[in-house]
Amino acid sequence: MSAPLRTPICDLLGIEYPIVSAGMGGVALAELAAAVSEAGGLGTLGLAAFGREAIISEIAAARARTQKPLAANILIPFLRPGIVEAIAATGISALTFFWGDARDHRAEIAIAHRAGIKVIWQCGSVDEARWARAAGVDIVMAQGFEAGGHVRGTTTSLVLIPELRDAIGDLPLLAAGGFADGRGLAAALALGADGAVFGTRFLAAQEAAAHPAYKQRLLAANATDTLHTTLYDLGWPDAPHRVLRTDLVERWEAAGRPASGSRPLEGLVSARAQRADLEIPLVNYTVMPPTDYMEGDCGGLPHYAGHSCSLLHEIIPAGDIVRRIATEAQTVIEKRLLKLISH
Ligand SMILES: Cc1cc2nc3c(=O)[nH]c(=O)nc-3n(C[C@H](O)[C@H](O)[C@H](O)COP(=O)(O)O)c2cc1C
Repeated sequence: MSAPLRTPICDLLGIEYPIVSAGMGGVALAELAAAVSEAGGLGTLGLAAFGREAIISEIAAARARTQKPLAANILIPFLRPGIVEAIAATGISALTFFWGDARDHRAEIAIAHRAGIKVIWQCGSVDEARWARAAGVDIVMAQGFEAGGHVRGTTTSLVLIPELRDAIGDLPLLAAGGFADGRGLAAALALGADGAVFGTRFLAAQEAAAHPAYKQRLLAANATDTLHTTLYDLGWPDAPHRVLRTDLVERWEAAGRPASGSRPLEGLVSARAQRADLEIPLVNYTVMPPTDYMEGDCGGLPHYAGHSCSLLHEIIPAGDIVRRIATEAQTVIEKRLLKLISH
């Protein structure tokens, strides 16, 4: 009988399994993050562009559901003064940053470190990972091109993970992009990562705040239904992202892919979001994905999804996803990989 799967990242973060749910802006909220953490992974709150009050109340809501380690994620382009200080005061265990040069954010990293928070930096290239290391982050997160949501680089996970491992020495490394099950986790570990981050997989969890119709589309889709584009640019221009090809995307393609300003149904407010201190009219082509706290028609919003949507077959509780990934990775290593060298 083998010991349960553990990597150095488990001790560093105080978690049972090297399984992390991605910080997904507006859809990875308290219920999802807490469920992942409670099951032994690291649940991440996708706080993206939330204001101070919303951040504090979301973290408190997650904390009310679990006493286990939790992470928060913020996007550098939306970082406002005082936000990192506010998060640092909440007792969160880890903070994931995305979309920036870590060397320009040593002050924020220091604030997190003073509060005992581990800093994770999501990177899409070797250069970014080197900069993150130089800035003193605790964990580098490799994001492969097949990832859902905003995609920083152009190299897929199979090459990016070992490339980053070679570049950062023995600094802890997480792998994101294309992972949906225990086979993926075992592969990430084989490539040099200390754990894997799952975004699209947890988007289809019962607790994710994604709109029910969006979850159904994810189940029906496969990798070839995704598109890497800069189409959904209102609120965050020139930032490539991977989305599902919806009716609106098809209309835009049929119209010859017109530039921003002259796209089909542009300027139309079709949906409205309401949550905490948030009350936003949602114009088509905005960055906000369809959520279960929206009213109206979400067809004009980005249905972010990674290639890993090919591997989703059901919507189940996040805790079951964590346990299944852990069990399957263990089985893959024990029954498949170890067998190859023990005959
Ligand atoms: C719906 C959605 C929203 C996302 N939002 C964010 C975000 O707010 N901040 C961030 O750092 N990454 C975000 N990402 C990217 C994830 O951090 C991660 O790189 C990605 O989910 C990994 O690929 P996968 O979807 O194949 O698991 C998002 C991804 C998805 C699918």
